[in-house]
Amino acid sequence: MLPSPDELAGICQKLLDRGIPRAVTPALSLRDAQPFLTAGFTIHEQLHLLGLDLRFGPNHRSHRFSPPLPEGYELRPGRRWHEAPVIEVDGMAFEPFWRFDAEALREARRATPRHRYRIIDGPEGVQGYAVTGLAGQRGYLQRLAVHPWAEGQGFGRILIEDAFQWLRRRHAIQIMVNTQERNQRALNLYRNVGFEPEPSGLVVLEWIG
Ligand SMILES: CC(C)(COP(=O)(O)OP(=O)(O)OC[C@H]1O[C@@H](n2cnc3c(N)ncnc32)[C@H](O)[C@@H]1OP(=O)(O)O)[C@@H](O)C(=O)NCCC(=O)NCCS
Repeated sequence: MLPSPDELAGICQKLLDRGIPRAVTPALSLRDAQPFLTAGFTIHEQLHLLGLDLRFGPNHRSHRFSPPLPEGYELRPGRRWHEAPVIEVDGMAFEPFWRFDAEALREARRATPRHRYRIIDGPEGVQGYAVTGLAGQRGYLQRLAVHPWAEGQGFGRILIEDAFQWLRRRHAIQIMVNTQERNQRALNLYRNVGFEPEPSGLVVLEWIG
């Protein structure tokens, strides 16, 4: 159920009364964004929404082999004690608006009934991580980040391929991901592993009281 513009205006007033002068929405489709726009929210960021059909066979280009991990590096499950280094990598990889704190990481992991949380660990510690969700037969690449010092070595691709394999084993038929329109690096990676842009993207909206 979408809130009406009047309901949103009431919510914003309550925020102001509590001394909160700014709010942002999660990523919304353009249709779902309408009442927010009518209530005075503005577009903070436009996102590409991309999808990939996981039912394609092993000849599809999404099956291109990942480069092997360099000696001393390992793909392993993310554990509780990895939380601090994972948050640190996230903070280095993303600009402030998009950075995760520990609670946001937990929320991303709880967002779907099942999820996979993998890190790439190396001699210098955590180099990258991915959270992939599964709800019904649809997968979501919820989060992907590689330490800026470790970029361009295939770690991003390895984490994505691992997500594909995990989802295929669970008979998922599709995986979705979104990213900022200006994030050319991530877009290149997603296109290279076989994601195709959906006809319409998503928006993150902002309200300033
Ligand atoms: C996007 C990101 C995960 C890529 O990680 P990575 O480990 O550098 O990725 P890889 O080394 O596997 O590179 C894979 C692809 O990225 C692209 N890429 C790598 N370096 C690039 C560069 N300097 N400029 C543009 N594209 C680049 C290429 O398309 C490459 O594919 P190819 O090797 O087949 O040509 C990483 O840069 C990152 O964490 N960025 C900040 C956070 C982010 O944007 N997360 C995902 C969006 S929500």
